[in-house]
Amino acid sequence: MPLNPHRTTLTQFLIEERRRFPDASGDFNSLILNVALACKSIARAVAFGALGGVLGNAGASAGSAPSINVQGETQKQLDVMSNEAFLHITEWGGQLAGMASEEMEDPYQIPQHFPKGKYLLVFDPLDGSSNIDVNVAVGSIFSVLRAPEGVDTVCEKDFLQTGTQQVAAGYAIYGPATMLVLTVGTGVNGFTLDPNLGEFILTHPGLQIPPDTNEFAINSSNSRFWEEPIKRYVDECLAGKSGARDKDFNMRWIASMVAEAHRILMRGGVFMYPRDSKDPNKPGRLRLLYEANPIAFLIEQAGGKASTGRQAISGVQPSSLHQRIGVIFGSRNEVERIEHYHLAPQANDLPNPLFNERSLFRVAN
Ligand code: AHG
Ligand code: MN
Ligand code: MN
Repeated sequence: MPLNPHRTTLTQFLIEERRRFPDASGDFNSLILNVALACKSIARAVAFGALGGVLGNAGASAGSAPSINVQGETQKQLDVMSNEAFLHITEWGGQLAGMASEEMEDPYQIPQHFPKGKYLLVFDPLDGSSNIDVNVAVGSIFSVLRAPEGVDTVCEKDFLQTGTQQVAAGYAIYGPATMLVLTVGTGVNGFTLDPNLGEFILTHPGLQIPPDTNEFAINSSNSRFWEEPIKRYVDECLAGKSGARDKDFNMRWIASMVAEAHRILMRGGVFMYPRDSKDPNKPGRLRLLYEANPIAFLIEQAGGKASTGRQAISGVQPSSLHQRIGVIFGSRNEVERIEHYHLAPQANDLPNPLFNERSLFRVAN
């Protein structure tokens, strides 16, 4: 493919953004470029598949039991390798005070021989890892927070910041093409990896999610555990043209939230992994700090909404590093509809025309 010298690289994009802040030190840009490098290295490992000898569970190769992470989930080799890539490709640069990851119970301390910086990096090194062995898209999710001033040894409490406090967030998707999708709070930009140059190139500037959609994503095998508002919403989608919504819906479930978020950023839709009653110890499947918050930041920056059903995800005060939460995000009007169903769970019975789905929320065809 011929080189187009007029395309914007991620480096150029970051430098041009930084020019708007003459006092910026450049630390933030260096951090993002290191995160991008970690993602490129994971993309290579994923792309080699079985040839790279990286598929399968971690710790299982010598006949021992597979290793289990803090979440109680079996770790894949690529979960572990991706975690190492994030840690070691970013720890040396002097921009970070500490890190936290889905794969580590406690915060990661920057080794003493490296300088410390003013940011915290929180990440899910490999999202959708059940898809690795079947060659379906996976990704990495990251969030950048500010470290408390003067902190030397980071602790859990330093990371317990609301989504609104994120400095930046993004994900890499390792699909047919590798992409990095980033927000620094001024919209959402998508970059595609040119595998020959090894550079992320700006291909999707200013992503915007259409406010309406007829596509939803949920793991229906959990339907018996759902709360009433979710049951109602999904039932109405399934009823299609013959039901209250008066239009047909399409359903998707990839089991990689990154891939679902990416589809929604590209063409709209709504994603739900709501709070349910499956396991009383787990109020939801997804983790607040390194899954829900960064994706919510991106979705909101692209004009969509992200909610627990009861409040904006970005406003939830975290209480622990690996806290789980119900997640609903995507096209604004659908998420608002689902929020209203949570506010008015008995809406079907209410005479109030405000809650009649054929009036207030009726979607024009
Ligand atoms: P991870 O691989 O980081 O543990 O995350 C997987 C998450 C998310 O990406 C996806 O939406 C969900 O788990 C899939 O869950 P089910 O297997 O219950 O469908
Ligand atoms: Mn994940
Ligand atoms: Mn993961």
